[in-house]
Amino acid sequence: MSSYIAAIDQGTTSSRCIVFDQGGSIVSVAQKEHRQIFPRPGWVEHDAEEIWANVLDVVHGALSKLSITVHELAAIGITNQRETTVLWDAETGKPVHNAIVWQDTRTDALVRELGGEQGQDRFREQCGLPLATYFAGPKARWLLDTVPGVRERAERGEVLFGTMDTWLIWKLTGNHVTDVTNASRTMLMNLRTLDWDADLLREFGIPRAMLPEIRSSAEVYGTARGTLSGLPVASALGDQQAALFGQTCFEPGEGKCTYGTGSFLLLNTGEQPVASRNGLLTTVGYKIGDQPARYALEGAIAVTGSLVQWFRDNVELIASAPEIETLARTVSDNGGCYFVPAFAGLFAPHWRSDARGVIAGLTGYITKGHLARAVLEATAWQTREVVDAMNADSGVELTTLKVDGGMTANNLLMQTLSDVLDAPVVRPIIAETTCLGAAYAAGIAVGFWEGTDKLRDNWHKAAEWLPAMESSIRDKGYRKWRKAVARTMDWID
Ligand code: G3P
Repeated sequence: MSSYIAAIDQGTTSSRCIVFDQGGSIVSVAQKEHRQIFPRPGWVEHDAEEIWANVLDVVHGALSKLSITVHELAAIGITNQRETTVLWDAETGKPVHNAIVWQDTRTDALVRELGGEQGQDRFREQCGLPLATYFAGPKARWLLDTVPGVRERAERGEVLFGTMDTWLIWKLTGNHVTDVTNASRTMLMNLRTLDWDADLLREFGIPRAMLPEIRSSAEVYGTARGTLSGLPVASALGDQQAALFGQTCFEPGEGKCTYGTGSFLLLNTGEQPVASRNGLLTTVGYKIGDQPARYALEGAIAVTGSLVQWFRDNVELIASAPEIETLARTVSDNGGCYFVPAFAGLFAPHWRSDARGVIAGLTGYITKGHLARAVLEATAWQTREVVDAMNADSGVELTTLKVDGGMTANNLLMQTLSDVLDAPVVRPIIAETTCLGAAYAAGIAVGFWEGTDKLRDNWHKAAEWLPAMESSIRDKGYRKWRKAVARTMDWID
């Protein structure tokens, strides 16, 4: 029997491959960043060919670091940045345009038009999502309307649609498939039938012929060709759903928040989709083979880690991301300053694509240390907003927040988070839960792991932060935060 499982994490800023052993421990990692292309304010694109080349590089890189060949892998799983949309020529495999990234707001007018008089929640009942620039359906529609000749060719099945999972599976195996979690981010899949919804396709103007087949999150979609020849491709999950799985949140009521470019809090709600009345998304959590799908409520925050990146690269107040903590610790509080990073509008619970970022409460007293604090606090306050919405929707108070992702290395942020939530925050030893979730799903699909029960034994607490803030300070801070949020609205005409 093969000894390892590999996972590809095709993320917003980089692609990674991690190899795991049977105990769920990491034995090899390789990573490569790709270009962020900003053709206009509010537009964000990726070169899908560059991403494909990077993915092959990191898979081979991870194998060669471990001095093993592809034959020692039982399978490979895929997890990916969700919603990012690519259309390509079925014959040549060439993308017809750069991929449009989830943060991109170019479809703002289109989503308002699609909402019409019924507004943002027009399709929530069918797909669980509000109309927003975030999702893949409007992006596909923009490409069909904009790139000459593409609509006609898509109607004949000569141009194919995919999110990054689909693109990679197609490049690896030649099969045109997606999984239920990724499909649940398009606005085109019916949450109950787990199939493309004819009404939604008509409303969005998307030809059925260009869409992949929707499959479960854990099954063999095909066998890789080329340099990875023979390797079963056995899982696909959107990265946030993969993290939910990797954190072993298998029971209703279990949830996690992943802190990456953006941050995403998902709560397992079991075998039935739960409608949100408080600005959250209803999404598919995962589906293992022919078992019933598990649904989740999600609080999606667009800008958290990417605000630290912006602070480093655009205003150059720090030279590396970890320096934000050192700079923030030069002062004891935010000095009255709040930073709402509505760079891509505001996601949950507001869903306002007309919002743009603000720094509020500036006085002559403010130093770069205060700004650094405000940057970190922005992540904590945004989490507080989605936790409040989650508590209201589920009727249950969050008792502990399981966290993962790159930003959890920042101790000041994790303490602030526990303070503003007034709840313990815990991080597992394997913080790479996104790749771990994809590996688990692939491993289950090929019999490398038996099922979900045993996987729980692999979860061990590595760190815990406990709340230590006076409630009057917390309440005052939250009031100010909300005032600052109100100032972001109606910026775009
Ligand atoms: O929905 C967007 C999300 O999937 C992106 O995740 O970690 O690549 O920023 P990440």
